[in-house]
Amino acid sequence: ATILVLHGPNLNLLGTREPEIYGHETLDDINARLSNFCLSAGHHLLHLQSNAEYELIERIHDARQEGINFIIFNPAALTHTSVALRDALLSVGIPFIEVHLSNVHQRESFRHHSYFSDIAVGTITGLGSMSYDLALQAALNRLTDTH
Ligand code: DQA
Repeated sequence: ATILVLHGPNLNLLGTREPEIYGHETLDDINARLSNFCLSAGHHLLHLQSNAEYELIERIHDARQEGINFIIFNPAALTHTSVALRDALLSVGIPFIEVHLSNVHQRESFRHHSYFSDIAVGTITGLGSMSYDLALQAALNRLTDTH
């Protein structure tokens, strides 16, 4: 199977961006670890980080043609604003897990609402970069159960 990991705005700055909230690992560190884990399980992993909402939307549209089986998505700040990304995911019908490094429920109230949680397979928040690892594990379990 092929899994797509999508990272939203400002996540390119991981490692230097508010490390007390987001940790010291870089996005490259995280992507490399996820890729290795996926390959060792016999699957493929693609990833994209973008600061532009339209790029994320177009990547989701293309994912359907490419036969991507599952998406792991940290929409970052767009979690709390983007009806357009929500609609893109509903349009393609690819199952996804919503991921956050920080515990959004522990933070400002504007981070408590997500446009994705009610349409996601599940949500993992607050476990640092391990949120991504656990999401990938869950995705691979589901794919091997059902395919
Ligand atoms: C985030 C949480 C969002 O509220 C924030 O805007 C981000 C990152 C996280 O991974 O903790 O950019 O999605």
